[in-house]
Amino acid sequence: MAVLVTGGAGYIGSHTCIELLNAGEDIVVIDNFYNSKPRAIELIKEITGRDFAFYENDCCDESALDRIFAENFITEVIHFAGYKAVGESCLKPVMYYENNLQSTISLLKVMQKYGCKKLVFSSSATVYGIPAKVPVTEKMKLSAINPYGSTKLIIENMCRELYASDKEWSIALLRYFNPIGAHESGKIGEDPNGIPNNLMPLILRAASGKMATLSVFGNDYPTPDGTCVRDYIHVVDLALGHVAAIKSVRKETGCPAYNLGTGKGYSVLEIINAFEKVNGVKIPYVIAARRPGDAAECYSNPDLAKKKLGWTAERGIEQMCRDSWNYIKNNA
Ligand code: WQD
Repeated sequence: MAVLVTGGAGYIGSHTCIELLNAGEDIVVIDNFYNSKPRAIELIKEITGRDFAFYENDCCDESALDRIFAENFITEVIHFAGYKAVGESCLKPVMYYENNLQSTISLLKVMQKYGCKKLVFSSSATVYGIPAKVPVTEKMKLSAINPYGSTKLIIENMCRELYASDKEWSIALLRYFNPIGAHESGKIGEDPNGIPNNLMPLILRAASGKMATLSVFGNDYPTPDGTCVRDYIHVVDLALGHVAAIKSVRKETGCPAYNLGTGKGYSVLEIINAFEKVNGVKIPYVIAARRPGDAAECYSNPDLAKKKLGWTAERGIEQMCRDSWNYIKNNA
């Protein structure tokens, strides 16, 4: 019996594989290395001391998925595989729709064929669009404001309708806020292929001199210091949320959504200041124009995950900044 982890070589996927193995689970991983590297698979085995089957395949390839289910007794699936860059999705919407939707459709068809009806899906706070108020709860209005977010919302709706058609399904939709940080070993962390879009990878580039200055996108928002506020969550806390969700889909059917966040908001300048203080490095930055589509504030109410999954984020912003920098220093 094993949990299939799609996209298991990626940033959140690899950290989740480690916590699943540490929790005694058996796993099987599929990844096509579009936004990850083969080394991640070796490091997961090195860090945990445990082995597992790995398939270098694309989740859009239904025959490859069928082979995995034929060769392994897959009892649950965590579906991370998908393109995730908001900016890229605005430039290449059809590529995002094709990949993110087709991979999920292929996966669900093969799961149905093999009678595997327990799924944890990697959703995103982006399905809330620009929230009308904060903190954000799971009951709030859903709306997509970019093609990436649209794919996540469409897949959530697909899952809700699948459950409505067959009540044997157990699906947990996990809405991530802003994952940052790295494993305490410093051996794995956020290592995107290409140019990053998110704040922390860009802070790390500025801190390591790979980028001259960081642009702070706007300081005229209606927030305490004028810069945008987000709910940053340590990637290991996020990984542990998936371990809790796997236990949950084993116990009850349904298709609930859960916010995986800390419930606390930090501004861009607060993150920069925390990073500088914890790591003793200076982050050269300039105030630049607002980035289109940014919400002034977006942070979670994570109470439902605490109540139903028995999960809460435990790592604070200092540890997120320390672990992020530790990974860069260990892999310079
Ligand atoms: C955070 C804040 C920027 C870069 C996105 C996706 C979301 C999820 C997480 C996948 C914002 C500011 C950033 C920079 C800056 N991804 N910033 N200078 O936009 O909250 O969420 O990533 O699920 O779906 O939407 O994260 O890290 O891009 O930005 O000032 O060079 O940092 O304006 O306020 P975001 P982010």
